[in-house]
Amino acid sequence: MEDWLEKHRFSARFNAGESGHYPQTLDSLLNALQPDFTFSLRDALLQTQLCDAPNLGMEELRSAVAALHPGTTADNVLITTGTSEALVLLLRRLRPQRLALIVPAFQLLLEIPLSLGADLIPLPIRWDENGQPRAPLELWTKTIIRERPDVLLINHPHNPSGLVFNEDELNALQTAAQKVGCTVVGDEHYRFLARPDGLLGPTAFTSRGFVTGSFIKCAGTPGLRIGWCVGEPSTLREMQSEKNYLTHTVNPLSQNLALWFLQSFFGGNAFFARLHSDWMQNRTYLADWLQQQSEWRGCPPQGGLVTCLFPCVQQGDLEQFEKMRHLGVFLLPLSTFTDAVCRDAQWCRGFRLGLGLRPAEFKAMLTVMVPNNLL
Ligand SMILES: Cc1ncc(COP(=O)(O)O)c(C=O)c1O
Repeated sequence: MEDWLEKHRFSARFNAGESGHYPQTLDSLLNALQPDFTFSLRDALLQTQLCDAPNLGMEELRSAVAALHPGTTADNVLITTGTSEALVLLLRRLRPQRLALIVPAFQLLLEIPLSLGADLIPLPIRWDENGQPRAPLELWTKTIIRERPDVLLINHPHNPSGLVFNEDELNALQTAAQKVGCTVVGDEHYRFLARPDGLLGPTAFTSRGFVTGSFIKCAGTPGLRIGWCVGEPSTLREMQSEKNYLTHTVNPLSQNLALWFLQSFFGGNAFFARLHSDWMQNRTYLADWLQQQSEWRGCPPQGGLVTCLFPCVQQGDLEQFEKMRHLGVFLLPLSTFTDAVCRDAQWCRGFRLGLGLRPAEFKAMLTVMVPNNLL
């Protein structure tokens, strides 16, 4: 998947293969955050010492991340280089032998456990004839109880379906996992875009499990490479010990910016409110467009910046991809997603659509994708 992104993301007129918001400059980020602070962020950034940060991450940032997860303190938080590093370190510590995973899945969630020798217990998402995704929870909980995984990985908001689980659904999964003594890991990378009212989405965190997350894709700042893992302190310390051989610590500039992002989010929300409203706007554009045309099926994501679109015409996804590419549109074929579970899967002919473009650009892209151009 990464090869596809690298090949097309810089050359497509409309890059909807991506899973994050349109990128911010440092200037735009600082300007937008500033109204929520009484000191100059620019001066504070310039005064930042370029030293090694504390191994587990800056105390203040860890406390701010803990505030996102009820019942935790800074001791339960490890700051990492992106969510990817948090996931790799955590999965290497847990070393699942039998991993229950919602599929299709962001490739890392599948490939790291497979590389560690885990068997996969797939929990497949179903799409109906209108392209609406559904989580068959009853089936999933039965599968968990029958197959007895040692780790259940819940990615929600889910990449690529855009599904978000409510608290009852999360409880049902947690209860099934608890019955078979299985550790629950939540990958909550898109939690900042999970509700129309702009509040945080629900968390899968419990004191028995772990959660990984970040805000960087939601905020159009993936270059900050900030992520975290929340869980019990002794495992986090073991993860940090391995991290010492790799990325060691996360640079203080990024950590300061992350702290200011979170403080602003919980304060006046001067920066992020605009990105949330762009997300809502793009969801509306997509819903309207899906109503107006008959060549694509799908729905806006409940959470996160991606959803899946399915062409109504019967043709190979690569052929369809080329047609779209010819029109300047880059959509990511779902067949690039998780090869190991893709073969014959119902969703394999679909595409992942990113909603992270600026609204005017997103709307223009949908116009380009009108049926007559495709035939
Ligand atoms: C579900 C999910 N988890 C984790 C990641 C990794 O994110 P990061 O860029 O913070 O390493 C991504 C990135 O797209 C993702 O979609």
